[in-house]
Amino acid sequence: MSRNSTNTNPFFFIAKTFQGLEEVLAHEIQGIGGSNIRILKRAVSFEGDKSTMYKANMFLRTAVRVLRSIKDFEAFNERQLYEQVYQIPWENFMEIGQTFTVDAVTGSHLFKNSHFVALKTKDALVDRFRKREGKRPSVDLQKPDLRIHINIQGNMARLYLDSSGNSLHLRGYRKAMTKAPLSEILAAGMILLSGWDGKTPFFDPMCGSGTLPIEASLIASNTAPGLFRKSFGFFSWIDFEEKLWQKIVDQALEQETELTTPIYASDISPLSIKISTENMKSAGFEDDIKLEKISFQKAPLPCDSGFLIMNPPYDQRLFHQNIQGFYKEIGDHLKQTYKGWTAWIISSNMEAMKRVGLKPSKRVQLFNGPLQCKYQGYELY
Ligand SMILES: C[S@@+](CC[C@H](N)C(=O)[O-])C[C@H]1O[C@@H](n2cnc3c(N)ncnc32)[C@H](O)[C@@H]1O
Repeated sequence: MSRNSTNTNPFFFIAKTFQGLEEVLAHEIQGIGGSNIRILKRAVSFEGDKSTMYKANMFLRTAVRVLRSIKDFEAFNERQLYEQVYQIPWENFMEIGQTFTVDAVTGSHLFKNSHFVALKTKDALVDRFRKREGKRPSVDLQKPDLRIHINIQGNMARLYLDSSGNSLHLRGYRKAMTKAPLSEILAAGMILLSGWDGKTPFFDPMCGSGTLPIEASLIASNTAPGLFRKSFGFFSWIDFEEKLWQKIVDQALEQETELTTPIYASDISPLSIKISTENMKSAGFEDDIKLEKISFQKAPLPCDSGFLIMNPPYDQRLFHQNIQGFYKEIGDHLKQTYKGWTAWIISSNMEAMKRVGLKPSKRVQLFNGPLQCKYQGYELY
């Protein structure tokens, strides 16, 4: 039923991500043994088996969710959509007592209303159960056992099951957050994009709730991001193989190493330090990450050279009285004090970024939620 190209790879998957992280995600998918990897817009497609799907959920740092394709079909009208969905052997995917929900995305002139597409899909599934068993499964929007995704582009419809359930940015270690935290996925993506090798010292001088230093610690200690999670969507699937999942958990535990790379973090705000401490403790790194309450401008160099990644206020969600002057100060301080370092800054404030006054050696466009950002790398000589 899915788009197979080989018999050894029974499943076709789509891993969703954020704009700008597609290549990093494709590289990660290669690392877990995915095949026929293709870069799409805000997503990467690949093939693999059930073990690949479990690994994707356990190990991918830059995937938002992993969808398993169950059927592609043509539909020119509502009747055809209903018929095609009705024909899917839903009894192979869920029990009658289980709950489900349908998310729909449409980019089609034939089906303009995504809510309507979701409703038709739900009706067809429910009617199939009712016809066969005289009963129907219920919808649960909050905590469904099965999340179904349908995507229609033109006359092509693609149906998927969401193997992740809740978004994979919910790693499970974050206990609290400051005002404008980075998504764990974006933070991991920024670190992987920066070219940091996981061994060179790492420093986030504006750490907020600690997302960047925690994700850096996970990378440096080879800790799988999925190890903290209590559940994944596929746990309630009919074909869930607990033994196979346990194997993946064991593999993740075996590959974990002690954190030996120096990771430094600081912030000017006492509340940020409190929240960071809590999150670092929850992730198991409270004794490893060197955390200090100090302003970036006053912080002494933590070591001779290393990688610095910072997410300063943009004057959008976190306000700053003199944002242009603040970015100039950041640039001057980097220039004068951080010789031999590689520094990366992310910001949605394009004007302020110019005031950093350093020539970027790399530039990437990223999105921090809805905010379009520049992520720039500087080699400081
Ligand atoms: C956008 S937030 C960082 C969010 C963080 N990346 C996270 O994921 O939670 C910016 C942080 O910069 C801190 N900050 C502002 N000015 C600073 C300065 N001069 N020195 C150090 N930290 C500063 C703020 O207290 C705030 O926590």
